[in-house]
Amino acid sequence: MLGAGSALFQIHLEEVILQDKRVIVVGASGTLGGDIVKALLDKGAKVQAMVRATSSRARLEAMGVTDFVVADLNDPASLRQALATEPRADAVVASAAGFTAHSARTKADNSKADTEGYRDLIDATKDAGVPRFILISILGCDRAPGVPHFFQKFETETYLAKTGQPYLALRAGAFLDRARDIVPDQIAKGVFPDILPGVPMALVYSRDLARYAAQAALELPESALNQSVDIGSASPATGAMVAQAFTRVLGRQIVAKPVFPALVMALAPLLACVQPRLRDNLAVMKWLRKGGYVSDDPQKQQRLFGDLPTIDEIVARYSRDKRLN
Ligand SMILES: NC(=O)c1ccc[n+]([C@@H]2O[C@H](COP(=O)([O-])OP(=O)(O)OC[C@H]3O[C@@H](n4cnc5c(N)ncnc54)[C@H](OP(=O)(O)O)[C@@H]3O)[C@@H](O)[C@H]2O)c1
Repeated sequence: MLGAGSALFQIHLEEVILQDKRVIVVGASGTLGGDIVKALLDKGAKVQAMVRATSSRARLEAMGVTDFVVADLNDPASLRQALATEPRADAVVASAAGFTAHSARTKADNSKADTEGYRDLIDATKDAGVPRFILISILGCDRAPGVPHFFQKFETETYLAKTGQPYLALRAGAFLDRARDIVPDQIAKGVFPDILPGVPMALVYSRDLARYAAQAALELPESALNQSVDIGSASPATGAMVAQAFTRVLGRQIVAKPVFPALVMALAPLLACVQPRLRDNLAVMKWLRKGGYVSDDPQKQQRLFGDLPTIDEIVARYSRDKRLN
């Protein structure tokens, strides 16, 4: 009886401790950023959403977020002001990225945001004395010097280590749910959109990653910090394997279909001569074909966050959340 009572006290104590923690989420208006905010709120933390003046707040307000701070990675003074606010935050979780389809619409200087902007954010975090910085990074970024927006993540990780700001970098594999999630509409037609047929990749459901980020911000011990962790599924999967998982989970036939027809792929290098963004995307595909998106050390993820999810588990959770059944 005493044991049960002390266990209850322990749970209550942990809840009280987490409720006292305050986390700033940078890029809160993004797809993953919103999921991270939700995961932190679910754990009882106080969340401050860092957004741009132009960011949509609708999804965050619907979650009950009221604490917003306006700042831009391209405006160092705004970052300093946001980070210096009292009471000091217990953690910063940085999910913002200039190089995404979502962010490209704003026509801002995205490459500068992902390089200088991130360095300014880290400096402001360190100067404010925030004890941990959780970076959403990219799997294999250290092996991708030919893909600028991947390698910039590695440079940000390197800067974190150099400045001495305590950090954890979560190097995520391929999101099943992309920023503009085209999967549900295609699944309704019996199709899984296959970006690179035949290429196995570590798969990530962004809500799992959000949960890891919240755990890293609030719960992991200090001894877990100052490293990069590959994040992915228990085994890599090709598009055809993901389609088979949907078939098993939904109980109806789902087939993988290439997103880019062969003719488009053949013409893309010509178009890339005049389209820098396309050039970068082609560099990503070339790198992926060489097996770039596969975890080097899945045991590290297992040690910090528990068993890695199988493809079927990811697809089942995704299907349930998106009501595909
Ligand atoms: N998709 C994948 O497969 C994958 C894989 C591994 C890692 N990742 C990483 O996951 C993270 C989240 O991706 P996502 O698809 O969720 O991104 P997203 O939906 O495109 O969101 C990007 C966020 O960054 C913010 N942002 C852009 N430029 C900014 C600036 N100059 N100052 C402040 N905020 C700025 C955007 O704000 P606005 O709302 O104002 O535009 C938005 O909140 C990124 O860091 C990405 O590199 C993605």
